[in-house]
Amino acid sequence: MSRSAAANDPTPADAAPHTLPTLGVVLVAAGRGERLGAGVPKAFVELHGRPLVEFGIATVTSLPHAGHLALVVPGDRAAEALELIDQVVPERSAWSVTVVPGGRERHESVRFGLDALPASIDTVLVHDAARPFASVELFERVIEAVRKTGVSAVPALPISDTVKRVDAAGVVHETVDRAPLVAVQTPQGFPRELLAAAHSTAQLHDGEDAGSAPTDDAEVVQRSGGTVRTVPGEVRAHKLTTQADLALLEAILEVNVAGVAEAL
Ligand code: CTP
Ligand code: MG
Repeated sequence: MSRSAAANDPTPADAAPHTLPTLGVVLVAAGRGERLGAGVPKAFVELHGRPLVEFGIATVTSLPHAGHLALVVPGDRAAEALELIDQVVPERSAWSVTVVPGGRERHESVRFGLDALPASIDTVLVHDAARPFASVELFERVIEAVRKTGVSAVPALPISDTVKRVDAAGVVHETVDRAPLVAVQTPQGFPRELLAAAHSTAQLHDGEDAGSAPTDDAEVVQRSGGTVRTVPGEVRAHKLTTQADLALLEAILEVNVAGVAEAL
C-alpha cells in the first residue's frame, strides 16, 4: 500500500520535475509493546491525543530531502496508518510513503521496510516509532555522517549512572568501567546496499546458531563485519519502553516540542 505525491497529485507542467528520492527512512512501528503493557501496540499509544507514530511520520516527512518513508506497522493497523499519512503528509510533499506489514522480530520488520524502498535510494535511516521526539537536527546529523564517511552512523549518549554486573538473583559481582560504554539510539543511518546485504546475511544465519536476535541495525551491520561510527545522541530521542517512560516523554513533549502537537 503506498501513497506517493507523484501518483496522487500529478505535477503541473510548469512545476519542477519530480526528483527521484535518494534518502529512505524505515520507521518501525510493528512491535507489540509487551513491556509497556498498554493493550495496544506501542506505536499506537496516544500522547496528547496523537498516536506515537504520528510524531515520527511528521518529523521524517518534514526533512528537507526528497525521500521515501517505509512505515512498518502491525498488519491490522495498515488502514489506520494510511489515514494518518493522509492527515500528516501534505499532498505536495517531496516524500512518498509506503505502508508495510511488520514481522515477528524487529529485524524482520526492518527487512520488510527495506524491501519496500525504491531503487533510487542510496542512504537509509532506520528509526523506532517508539522514539517520537527525535529531532530533525538528529536525523540530519546522522544523514550527514553517513554521506560524509560512507559508513554507518548511530546516535549515542554517554552513560552517567554507575554500571554494575549482576547475576540472575540480582547480586552485584563487579562495577563495570563505563568510560568506553554508550547508550545507542535511533535514527541509525547506513549506506543502503550495505544494510540490505547485512540483513540478508543475518537472515541466512537465522536458525540453528542464530543466538539472540539483534535489537538494533548497528548490530546487524557489525555481525556482518561493517564499521559503525557514533554521532552525539540527544535526551529527547528517548524510547518508550515501560510505563515509567510515559511521564518522561510527556515532559519532553512539553519542554522541547512545544507547538509540535498543535502543528500536526
Ligand atoms: N518493532 C517492529 N516490529 C517488531 C518489533 C519491534 O516494528 N516485530 C518496532 C517497535 O514498534 C518499536 C521499535 O521496533 O518502534 C523498538 O522496539 P521495542 O522497543 O522492543 O518495541 P516492542 O517490540 O513493541 O516492545 P516490547 O519489546 O516491549 O514488546
Ligand atoms: Mg521488542
